[in-house]
Amino acid sequence: ISAASLQPEQWTTSANEAVKLFVTDATGAINFSPTFTYPIFGDAETIYGYKDLVIFLCFDHFTFKPFFNVKYSAKLDDPDIVDLEQVLRKFLPESAIYKDESKWADSIQEEKEAGYTIPGELIDSFEKDDSAYEIYKINVKDASGLELHKRLQILVLLFIEAGSYIDTSDELWDLYVLYNKDSSSIVGFATAYNYWKYPGSVKFDDNKREIRKKISQFIILPIYQGKGLGGALYSHLFDVWHKDEEVVEVVVEDPNESFDDMRDRADLSRLNKVLEFSKVTPKVESSWVEETRKSLKLEKRQFSRLLELILLYKLK
Ligand code: ACO
Repeated sequence: ISAASLQPEQWTTSANEAVKLFVTDATGAINFSPTFTYPIFGDAETIYGYKDLVIFLCFDHFTFKPFFNVKYSAKLDDPDIVDLEQVLRKFLPESAIYKDESKWADSIQEEKEAGYTIPGELIDSFEKDDSAYEIYKINVKDASGLELHKRLQILVLLFIEAGSYIDTSDELWDLYVLYNKDSSSIVGFATAYNYWKYPGSVKFDDNKREIRKKISQFIILPIYQGKGLGGALYSHLFDVWHKDEEVVEVVVEDPNESFDDMRDRADLSRLNKVLEFSKVTPKVESSWVEETRKSLKLEKRQFSRLLELILLYKLK
């Protein structure tokens, strides 16, 4: 058959439109769309060979166990057409359930009946808009922690540009999960890498370790964005690290515009509590800048940015 008679456009689907994401809630499931699909379906973000294609990828709000299904009205009879089940399996944990929705529901029920809890250490909690939130540090060395990580990580590809999977065999990675205790729902997560800094020979001999925490991936599920939860997760993590004697600086890997915006607001409100903004003038001593920056554990570029923002604010 010639390509013209095939009408290739009828067999080509935008992957971003074909993929329908869902997270269950108390009454059903909430739908949202991916921002990126190129890490899974290639740079053109298109899928060829199917008509009326819909790819369902659903997560349980509590255990995040995935279910996926591929539906279409026709498929080209050509061995080169990709098998979408196999493509998706490469990015999902082995426990992901394909096609059989009731098997998925039963398996979630089984996990809950077996006493499923977020597999990690509770490191902080807060109240926001009448809901109780908790932050867990997940141990990815532990089988259940690693499994939760595998369930969540596809979101990195779908929502962070140039996002990629972390190497969980590297002990220096941390995973944190933000959890709404009232609705038993995972709301977002972040990964951070612990860079060891040589602390100088004296501290080194005293066994004092110095760590630069690098936030690498940070996601609030789209259905919960714009409610101040990203800012709250970032601020609470920062406070936990600020109290940790080993952490000397918190940095961020390739922040995008929306992360920068959220971080600036969170950093400024933290600074507002500990700094007298009246002391910030264009003539401020560089030794004061360095001392203050170190005590706040902020990186140089971010601290100068914040000082500029404070100066701009004062000019208004
Ligand atoms: N009520 C209403 N709106 C609010 C409230 C509130 N209580 N508090 C803050 N907002 C507004 C803010 O003004 C801000 O508005 P803006 O979008 O006009 O700037 C907006 O909500 C965002 O602030 P938060 O709600 O604190 O942040 P959010 O929970 O939406 O999370 C994040 C931000 C993490 C960037 C999220 O959008 C996301 O996950 N995006 C997709 C993935 C991504 O891009 N991650 C960052 C990549 S970079 C990296 O990982 C290092």
